[in-house]
Amino acid sequence: MTKRTIVAMPGDGIGKIVLSEAIRVLEAAGFQADYVTGDIGWEYWCSEGNALPERTIELLEKHKIGLFGAITSKPKDKAEAELAPELKGKGHVYYSPIVSMRQHFGMDICMRPCKTFKGNPLNFIRKGPGSTIQEPEVDVMIFRQNTEGLYGGVEWTNPSDQVYDAFMTHKKFRDNFEWCPREELAISTRIFTKKYTTRIVRAAFEYAKARGFDSITVCEKPNVIRETSGMMLKVAQEMSKKEFPGIAVYDTNIDAQMMWLTKNPEDYHVIVAGNMFGDIVSDAFAGLIGGLGFACSAQFSEGGVAVFEPTHGSAPKYAEYETPIVNPIAMVMSACMMLDYIGEKEISARIQKAIAKVVEDGKTKAYDMMKLKGSQDVINQGAATTSQMADAIIAAL
Ligand code: NAI
Ligand code: MG
Repeated sequence: MTKRTIVAMPGDGIGKIVLSEAIRVLEAAGFQADYVTGDIGWEYWCSEGNALPERTIELLEKHKIGLFGAITSKPKDKAEAELAPELKGKGHVYYSPIVSMRQHFGMDICMRPCKTFKGNPLNFIRKGPGSTIQEPEVDVMIFRQNTEGLYGGVEWTNPSDQVYDAFMTHKKFRDNFEWCPREELAISTRIFTKKYTTRIVRAAFEYAKARGFDSITVCEKPNVIRETSGMMLKVAQEMSKKEFPGIAVYDTNIDAQMMWLTKNPEDYHVIVAGNMFGDIVSDAFAGLIGGLGFACSAQFSEGGVAVFEPTHGSAPKYAEYETPIVNPIAMVMSACMMLDYIGEKEISARIQKAIAKVVEDGKTKAYDMMKLKGSQDVINQGAATTSQMADAIIAAL
């Protein structure tokens, strides 16, 4: 096995806690790597006026693979207030470093798996016929376009003449919005490009093919958002015909999908969506398999940079506890996605099996799995600490 170099980016709050536990699990499983630390997060905003320092970008450019914990973001006025005195008033503007990182490297493909662990007390259950209780097994991969759409950042408040005039060329804008004073207008755009729509759709088909699924589902809203959602659906339908004839395309609307979510989640295996709807549908599915303590993700760029991260944030309050209690499984599962990506599938499978065993045994449970409200006291109530969860996974290896 060649030794890898991984850029470890702990970030803020519990990001630091879960990342170090995940590295401990990787090492115990026999994954050989050197870790170089990539500075990122609030601390660097305050001290340098940049939450994603250039040196971290260089590390990622060089080593290509990153493991990321979580960062803290705060509103504009707070960001300005916490900046080091010597940096104040020098034109520094806070941007979320994880969003900046995605944009800088063009990490357009985001994969968010949601898979039920047997015996997880947080699994979704529903009533079946009569008084039966059903626990559907969820196994879905959500492909979220990660760089465009509503999160693309092309937006205005009180748009300039040029922008306003351009909008006025559109009949719907003239008919429905001309009445509004310009300074009371806020406009956010939803831009899809054929190139990146095609890339995310193709990634979904390839995954379906590799796993032997016979359909993918485009989760958008093409009946209303005709141009962008319409483009994604059309790209998928054409690709099915030309490149993946055995794989059908289903089309659900994001709103209806939220309703069906609890009715038949076991019927979905591959979902593809734009940036915002992908964010929504993946969080919704994550809720069925245990929520933030279990939700992992991976993001890839055309240039070969890939970053793996839990979908949860830095949970600052939890980072202050003397003994950490947050669940490290989402971070460890993200690390498994990294292993799969770099070809260490055997180690990844072993870690995932170990997690499954710990969850099914039910002897070691993080506070979220006990449905307790987070506090330092959960340990007295029998909840495992973050380290004890990692220890249990290591023991199960
Ligand atoms: P959050 O995800 O940090 O925490 C929300 C709640 O989820 C926590 O209070 C806790 O109850 C639970 N939780 C989170 N991670 C958990 C884990 N591993 N195990 C068990 N329970 C867990 O979201 P919140 O509170 O909205 O944001 C806190 C900060 O994180 C903000 O500054 C926000 O901007 C940032 N954030 C960063 C993200 C990232 O780095 N990708 C994503 C989301 C939020
Ligand atoms: Mg989200």
